[in-house]
Amino acid sequence: MTDFAGRVAVVTGGNAGIGRAVAEVLRARGAVVHVLDRDVEGPAEGVTAWRADVTDQSEVDAALAGIGDREGRVDVLVNNAGVSFVGTVEDGGLDEWQRLYDVNVLGYVRTIRAALPLLRRGSDAAIVNVSSCTAASGLRSRVAYSATKGAIQSMTRAMAADLVAERIRVNAVEPGTVDTPFMTALAEAAPDPAARRAQFEARQPTGRMVDPREVGEAVAYLASPWAHSTVGTVLTVDGGMAAL
Ligand code: NAI
Repeated sequence: MTDFAGRVAVVTGGNAGIGRAVAEVLRARGAVVHVLDRDVEGPAEGVTAWRADVTDQSEVDAALAGIGDREGRVDVLVNNAGVSFVGTVEDGGLDEWQRLYDVNVLGYVRTIRAALPLLRRGSDAAIVNVSSCTAASGLRSRVAYSATKGAIQSMTRAMAADLVAERIRVNAVEPGTVDTPFMTALAEAAPDPAARRAQFEARQPTGRMVDPREVGEAVAYLASPWAHSTVGTVLTVDGGMAAL
């Protein structure tokens, strides 16, 4: 498919996991893809990687300025860089909460602020924010993480209302348990990593973890002209977790 031919896309956290799959799907459909990541080792083929930590506004600004110099505009922004913390409301320090909000919520805000002047020069521009099924359904020991992912959904609707008149659509995806380095690290931290991984597979009603490319395709749909009338929504890609 070439429905993204000539379109310029930016993906944060685009060097691993879901972000990398999003970058690869958009690239395969013809987009010019730039990724921002704090780790730019071995980027996906045909993709330009910019080293930027989304907790640092000056690094995000510098990357977007470079992309602007090269492309003159951005048509698609995918906010995806995120981190997790496993714990109940009593676990960890408030510094953990602050770290999660800094990456998962303010990281999106910083990138959107830096990208908006370029998105305004784009055509039928779209922002897609990666949230999580934890925003809507309780998952044990994910209190701070769930709070940040809920904030992303609220932000998505509010920004959609603010930006739709400028022909910038804002939507979100909420994946279930996706097979990425993020989940591998969680499994490896368990006493029995193989058993933990089997639990991750089993908690999906479909019986297996979500393939990151499935999320990539969902993001591509929301960013495509076929979603022209889709504004301020959340697309669920969770193997049926929320339905049960
Ligand atoms: P991952 O840990 O496998 O990859 C994350 C990427 O983001 C890495 O390339 C990392 O270097 C980059 N990154 C992290 N912090 C950054 C920062 N401060 N600045 C710039 N880059 C940074 O994660 P995964 O699983 O691909 O998750 C991506 C997004 O999807 C996150 O927002 C996560 O919360 C969300 N998500 C993941 C699910 C899963 O089951 N894996 C489920 C639902 C949502």
